[in-house]
Amino acid sequence: MTELELKISQLDPERIPVHVAMIMDGNGRWAKSHGYIRSDGHAEGVSTVHRVTKLSSDLGIKYLTLYAFSTENWNRPKDEVDTLMYLIGWAIERELPELLANNVRIVLLGDIERIPEDARQRLFYARNATAHCTGLQLNMCLSYSSRWEITEAVRKIAYLAAEGKLDPKDITENTISDNLTTAGIPDPDLLIRTGGEYRISNYLLWQIAYSELYFTPALWPEFSDEEYVEALLDFQKRERRFGMTSDQVKHTN
Ligand code: FPP
Repeated sequence: MTELELKISQLDPERIPVHVAMIMDGNGRWAKSHGYIRSDGHAEGVSTVHRVTKLSSDLGIKYLTLYAFSTENWNRPKDEVDTLMYLIGWAIERELPELLANNVRIVLLGDIERIPEDARQRLFYARNATAHCTGLQLNMCLSYSSRWEITEAVRKIAYLAAEGKLDPKDITENTISDNLTTAGIPDPDLLIRTGGEYRISNYLLWQIAYSELYFTPALWPEFSDEEYVEALLDFQKRERRFGMTSDQVKHTN
């Protein structure tokens, strides 16, 4: 039995998280430490995206949400932005046959209209081609930030109120959730951040209210399948109380 198989065998199949979100950090530092340019780190990071998607699908995770490009990432040097956009379009096209074979559905979250035409068309093609898939849903956050998303939701809700379609008295937490790009997607159970930083970087701020957080120093290109399963094992050891007491949680389970 390999180390990976051994770790997988330790997982409780009844308590696999439904939704895992990831902040893929550390591509630039990985590249620098190997004497490469930053964009080479992103290219290497695509292999980790491939592995993590396959393993999530094999383990029966229903939603995997990846922070592929943030609103703030538009401020990076033009060369790096161009390469990332090219890579994302190229990777999605290359991966499409395997995504289909694994019944993976692509969903795009973010201000997709800002993505350059060429990459956007490839992304739309993959999204449409996988729309019927019923296995893992791979949410790709592109030109995404949580504050952008919440601002958009507030605008939509304000318009509904101004048009008399919504009484402000009837606004609930569900009204907010239903107007986010993640409407209909359960909140993440687990958020993993690679790259050794302890921050959330404007990612899914509303949705991670009760998510378990896992931080690892591993740089994204080095984030192994073994460590992913380690994060899932760590998640399974935790007691999720959602603001209740430990006794209450034991009685509701
Ligand atoms: C953060 O590393 C990573 C990104 C900004 C981009 C993530 C993109 C990929 C892994 C490739 C394409 C993705 C898909 C979904 C096909 P960083 O550059 O901030 O690293 P650093 O902190 O070491 O500088």
